[in-house]
Amino acid sequence: MADTITELETLMPKDLDAGLIFSGTSSGKKIKGFESPCSFTPSINSDYLYHESSRDVIVWFMNSADPFYLFGPAGSGKTSLIKQLAAKLNYPVFSVTGHSRLEFPDMVGHLTVQNGNMIFQHGPLALAMKYGGVFLLDEIDLLDPATAAGLNGMLDGEPLCIPENGSEIITPHPLFRFAATANTNGGSDETGLYQGTLRQNLAFMDRFWLCEINYPTAEAEENLLAFKAKNLPEELRKKMVEFANEVRKLFMGESTDFNDTIEVTFSTRTLIRWADLTVRFQPLANQGVQPITYALDRALGYRATRETRSFLNELAQRIFPVTDT
Ligand SMILES: Nc1ncnc2c1ncn2[C@@H]1O[C@H](COP(=O)(O)OP(=O)(O)OP(=O)(O)O)[C@@H](O)[C@H]1O
Ligand SMILES: [Mg+2]
Repeated sequence: MADTITELETLMPKDLDAGLIFSGTSSGKKIKGFESPCSFTPSINSDYLYHESSRDVIVWFMNSADPFYLFGPAGSGKTSLIKQLAAKLNYPVFSVTGHSRLEFPDMVGHLTVQNGNMIFQHGPLALAMKYGGVFLLDEIDLLDPATAAGLNGMLDGEPLCIPENGSEIITPHPLFRFAATANTNGGSDETGLYQGTLRQNLAFMDRFWLCEINYPTAEAEENLLAFKAKNLPEELRKKMVEFANEVRKLFMGESTDFNDTIEVTFSTRTLIRWADLTVRFQPLANQGVQPITYALDRALGYRATRETRSFLNELAQRIFPVTDT
């Protein structure tokens, strides 16, 4: 922990060229970041494709504004978007995943024994406020609303007071940012899919700048698969994205070809897993097993009812003739 603190103490804020960082060409617009990354800075994923919602997150990073609440369906890229943009600016990211029993000390810190002495160990929120960086609270809508509302003062920009640490007062660092991600907008889960989410306190939600993210466009997902599954033919990757979008429509009851609705859907995460498993199971083709349908079961089908699984398999047989893989 001592090493961590020493490292965080050496972080140097720096004015960076926003254009250069995000598009590769100088824009003259300044954005604050850090001179160099530290061990809390996420590593840059060169395969990462930025989608439309990146705009909001970049603008949010540019101005020290309200806390940010990014919501959208499972596996649409919420957590990775925040982390990838933070990585570009060398921001450390201190993250915590929300759940109904998450308490204030899990975020702020607690007393612990070290070499026979009681010392206070700062939690992720305290570290971000003290040294600068993003405090990322994933799945914030799983928090007990009363615990969440306990963050109101801090969300308003007030200093954090830690009585257990000799009443330490932490004034927020100018580069402290609070970001939350969730599957719901903090109102309620109209779909019934996100079990465990809780309707959050209105005054708490009122403090956030909200942004909705959806699954990337077909073109973006095709590009994504081109990075992640280079070994699959382009035509096949295109069909996989089409298939994923057809499944999403079936899930939403919006399919023009079928009256059925199904209970599972494709996230970008599932699509990537499907492509990855299809590559890994290529040797099965020699044994007369079609890798793409075999992988589909493992990426998605086994999560569905037997009826939906066979429906998905039939659909896949139609879209991917045996000659495809
Ligand atoms: N635009 C993208 N470019 C590259 N990879 C992506 C992109 N969007 C999502 N992914 C990949 O998909 C997976 C899911 O992304 P992520 O964890 O960010 O989703 P999420 O919206 O936070 O999901 P959840 O609701 O389950 O928390 C990750 O492995 C991520 O790398
Ligand atoms: Mg997430």
